[in-house]
Order: sequence, then C-alpha cells, then structure tokens
Amino acid sequence: MEQRHYGAESTIFLCLRRSARSRRLRTTLDQDPSFRLRALSILSELQDPSPDLLEVYRKPLRSESPPSPPWAPRPPSSDFALRITKMVDSNLPPDSAKENVDRDSNQIPAENVEKSLDSIIRELNDSISVGKKHKFWETQPVGQYKDLGDSSLPEGPIELPTPLQEVKQEPYNLPSQYVWTTCDMTSEETCNEVYNLLKNNYVEDDENMFRFNYSKEFLRWALHPPGYFQSWHIGVRAKANKKLVAFITGIPARLRVRNEVVKMAEVNFLCVHKKLRSKRLAPVLIKEVTRRVHLENIWQAAYTAGVIIPTPITTCQYWHRSLNPKKLIDVGFSRLGARMTMSRTIKLYKLPDSTSTPGFRKMELRDVPAVTRLLREYLSQFAVAPDLDEDDVEHWMLPTKNVVDTFLVESPDTHEITDICSFYTLPSTILGNQNYSILKAAYSYYNVSTKTPLLQLMNDALIVAKQMDYDVFNALDVMQNESFLKELKFGPGDGQLHYYLYNYRLREALRPSELGLVLL
Ligand SMILES: CC(C)(COP(=O)(O)OP(=O)(O)OC[C@H]1O[C@@H](n2cnc3c(N)ncnc32)[C@H](O)[C@@H]1OP(=O)(O)O)[C@@H](O)C(=O)NCCC(=O)NCCS
Repeated sequence: MEQRHYGAESTIFLCLRRSARSRRLRTTLDQDPSFRLRALSILSELQDPSPDLLEVYRKPLRSESPPSPPWAPRPPSSDFALRITKMVDSNLPPDSAKENVDRDSNQIPAENVEKSLDSIIRELNDSISVGKKHKFWETQPVGQYKDLGDSSLPEGPIELPTPLQEVKQEPYNLPSQYVWTTCDMTSEETCNEVYNLLKNNYVEDDENMFRFNYSKEFLRWALHPPGYFQSWHIGVRAKANKKLVAFITGIPARLRVRNEVVKMAEVNFLCVHKKLRSKRLAPVLIKEVTRRVHLENIWQAAYTAGVIIPTPITTCQYWHRSLNPKKLIDVGFSRLGARMTMSRTIKLYKLPDSTSTPGFRKMELRDVPAVTRLLREYLSQFAVAPDLDEDDVEHWMLPTKNVVDTFLVESPDTHEITDICSFYTLPSTILGNQNYSILKAAYSYYNVSTKTPLLQLMNDALIVAKQMDYDVFNALDVMQNESFLKELKFGPGDGQLHYYLYNYRLREALRPSELGLVLL
C-alpha cells in the first residue's frame, strides 16, 4: 500500500470507527449505503495492514489521550470480536451510559479515554480484516469485497445449481490421520462426544474468560428441526483413537430474502479442536457440509461468525442486561461503573418481583396457530427473515426446559393472543474463577408486540428471566430491539456478530434493524 493512500484510508477508518461512538456518523453509516460502500471498497484494497498504517491511527488517537497513563495499543489480531461479548461501560447509570455512546470521541472524559481507545483499536482491527486476503473464501460463491458498490450485479443466487448427478459423490479428502463421521445426535454417546468437544473448544470471548457451553438438550433441539438431515451433522475423528476432533452442522430452513422464499441450510457449530487449529481444516469442513447440502438440492446457506470474512450482509451488536450484577462483576463479565458502588449497581438493575402485563403467560401447544400467525405477520416487514409454518413454530417456540422459553399475552377479555416474547438458554463456562463455574445467560429470540408496548413486554421478559435465575439477558440489535435496549438498561457488548449468506448476493448491506433472523 503506497503512502499517499494513507490519508484517505485513515479518514475512512476513523469515520468508521468513530461511528460507534458518534450517533451522527453511525447514522450516516447506517442510512447512507453509498457512503458505507465507498468506505468498504477503500478498505477492501488494503491487503496487508502494515505497522506503518497502524501508526497513522495511533497519531490522531494519541493526541486525544491524556499525557498519562501511557496507552499501550493492542497488537493487531486475526481472531477478534468473537460471538461471546462482555459488557462495555455497562454499570454506568443509564443516563451517563447514553451520553457516552452519543458523544463524539473528542469529548470523552479523561477517565474513559483509555477504554475508548481500546475499543476503537479493537474495531479498527475489525475493519483492517476487511482488507485481508481470504484464500478460501475468495474461491467461494459469496459476495466478494471487490464487488462492493457494484450495483450492476443482480440480487439473488451467485451460481446456478448444478445437476445433482454432477455433485461430487464422495467426501472431500481429509489429512490421512482423520476420518469423517456422521453424528447421530439421538445417540446419548455421540451427543456426549459433541457436547464435550464444544464445551472444551467452542467459542470464547476476546480475553478467554468465558466459553459457550451449549447443553445436550439444546444441541438436540438446535439440530433436529422438522425435516432435518442427519447427514448434515458432520464430525471428524482421529483414526488412531477415534476421538472427535472437529464438527460442523447444517439444518434446513426456508428464509425469505425480500420477496423470495429460498430453501437454505443454516450452518452452525463449526469447531476444530484447539490442538488442530490453523491447519486449514475449517475450509474442508465447510466444503463438506456444502457438498452434503447440495446433495439435497439446496444451494444457499445462512451463517453467522464473530470474524469478518467476505462479506457480511449485516453486522450486529450484542447488548447485555445485568440480572445478577454482583456475580457479573465478580466474574469479570462487567465492571463496576465509575462513581458506582456495588449496592447502587444492584439497586440500578433491580426488577419488580412479578410481571406487569395482564394475561402474560407461558406459551402452550394450543397456541401454535396463533403464534405462527403473529410471527409470520411480524417477520414480513424485515428484508431477511425465516419463513415459518406451524411445524417450525411448534419446534422452535414451544417452551422446552433449559432450552427455549416463550411467553405470550392472552387478552383477559377476548382471549386473543396479542404479543409474544421468547429467549433461549445458552450458558457459558466461566474459565478460571474460584467461586463460579457457569454463567447462566438468556438470549432474546423472537418478540412480537401488537397490543402490549414492546418495552413493557421485554421488561416482563426480564422479570421472568430473573425469576428463573439467569445472570444476564442478551439481545442483538436486530428487528426492533434497539427501541428497548437503552431504556431497559442493556449495555453494549465488546464484540460484533456478522451475518452471511452463501451463494446469494444482496445488492446492499442491511441495517441490523432490517434483519428478522436469529441464529443459535
Ligand atoms: C473457527 C475455527 C473452526 C477455524 O479453524 P482454524 O483452525 O482457526 O482455521 P483454519 O486454518 O482451519 O481455516 C482458516 C480459514 O477458515 C476461515 N474461518 C475461520 N473461522 C471461520 C468462521 N467462523 N466461519 C467461516 N470461516 C471461518 C478463515 O477465514 C480461513 O479462510 P480464509 O483464508 O479464506 O480467510 C476454529 O478457530 C474454532 O474452532 N474456533 C472456536 C469455535 C468458533 O469460533 N467457531 C466459529 C463460530 S462462528
């Protein structure tokens, strides 16, 4: 990269990064697709971010920081912003937290400068990764960085299906010490093996303090929707000791992209044992699941990742609502805010003992038709959303202990079902803490409000989650969630979640609020 490009790039980078803190720029990025695309296409030319380039960023940033303490920037990392995120500044009283987000970074108070720089650098790292070479992903039918901003390209499938007999019939080659295995998740033994592989090797937060701990019941639920294919639950075993060392899954789904309903695979649980990382096993797993999806005459997929690869259809942020602030602070999930004591913090997050909406109750089997109607109507407003029928709703929404919970509002007068809220249960292992080993987290799933204000509905969801002993309630800024996050004292997380489509091009990236899809 030549020196003369630095000015333009650094401006774009800074604009992008500061967008997280300045509402005006954030709005520009969100609402002006041509600005965003221009920014991204400049980023995409950047092949190899050199230390010199990072220096360009440090200069303006340093001048904003106080003379002491000296700021030690994070080294650029290739694997940041994972799917577990922790809270940033979450324990500030809501008003000052809000101020902090809205204020331009030039005006950040001195005590917050260091933390802010840290998160700017983290986000800068993210944007630099947009310019990274992707040896594997550049060969795949996915939106490529070089095509960003090219509005002449049509929306829809990137490659046409090939005749089924031309789909490769035998699995991809693995390194000679490994063999493919199809995982029968109804078998207790196999389910245990998958559970343990993920428990020890799946997604961690940036600082390796927490690791997702999907329960066995959850894995069975997530992998056995109507019409699932066992052949899409794919493992890799070491030949020598038969140990499961890698995993990837797909499940069938119908996703609506604008006006088209497309059969897709939702790909999830990509995991390679820690000892086998960086050996290019992941691309083989991805190709193998793709081959098995093609064998079922399905040619598109949806997936999420904490890393940036070509090319997100949208980038979302997790927000976290403390339910058990003392534990969250004790385990390092969040920090005591400036000028806050523990008792003030506990008071700040205290919730009423019981819900406030008359007719608020758990969903039952008899509610499936009404919930399906409400959900279908609600999801129709989003650019990308699942196309759910009653069988899907029965599977995905009907409460299953420690897996998924759905509550609804039944009008006490008419007995009509008017509102729905739901969350799924995904605990994380707390790594290396003497006092606690599990963080119990609820994740907002699908919420629909037609009569009860969404804010009130979600406050009731928080109340029941607290009663059920969750430590934290997480939500993405998808659908209409932004409308309640700040008000209900959610704090922003420290990482992002990127959504992707395989073999389907969108002309423009979406705002998170245009997305009606939650992947597990
Ligand atoms: C994700 C994981 C399987 C990648 O394996 P790895 O050994 O680090 O990487 P490999 O050398 O096998 O492969 C690297 C390729 O996989 C891609 N890749 C890495 N993580 C990916 C992801 N989450 N989704 C899609 N592709 C991914 C890389 O971009 C790279 O391709 P590129 O050269 O085109 O950019 C592994 O790091 C892991 O198990 N991490 C913990 C669990 C996790 O984060 N899973 C993903 C959840 S979204």
